[in-house]
Amino acid sequence: MEITREKIKILYSEEKIAKRIKDMGQQISEDYAGLNSPLHMVCVLKGSVHFYSQLLLEINMNVRYSFIQVASYKGTQSSGRINVKSWIDEPVQGKNVIVVEDILDTGRTLKYILNYLSRYKPATLEVAALVDKYEKDHFGINPKYVGFQTQDRFLLGYGLDFEQKFRNLPYIGYVEG
Ligand code: IMP
Ligand code: MG
Repeated sequence: MEITREKIKILYSEEKIAKRIKDMGQQISEDYAGLNSPLHMVCVLKGSVHFYSQLLLEINMNVRYSFIQVASYKGTQSSGRINVKSWIDEPVQGKNVIVVEDILDTGRTLKYILNYLSRYKPATLEVAALVDKYEKDHFGINPKYVGFQTQDRFLLGYGLDFEQKFRNLPYIGYVEG
């Protein structure tokens, strides 16, 4: 299927995303205020890049940054194999960790990431996902913070790609048909 920008319909506008992320940042700030352990947020590259950077600016406490890169997608289907390209660069033992994910689809990637991170014995380990395809069970993962719940269809923009294209659309959209 040939996807062009003209065919993409807006699902969540730039304004709607910004507003939702502001609320999520406030919620995280409230939930983690007063906790002694540092808050450490892990960005799952590449898709979470815009969500992560905007979300962290909305949190009014110190946050430690880490980036990991894993890939599992080919085209519009999850390939089932997970390829770790880079991993956290500082220990998370005893810290409050939030893994920041662009979209929860099958949950396979996140399950893998959470399994590994839990071995380091963080104080807490939670997930913030901008979009949750709620019809799927995600291997039992329950994200503590969710931006939007959506039906199972392929989305693009605001970090989400189709074969590495359309990540820099400022909104999230879909292609009909
Ligand atoms: P999962 O392992 O099936 O949950 O999906 C892993 C990754 O696939 C997500 O982190 C996204 O980067 C990507 N992905 C899942 N659904 C979509 C989509 O609708 N559009 C673009 N990328 C997606
Ligand atoms: Mg991806």
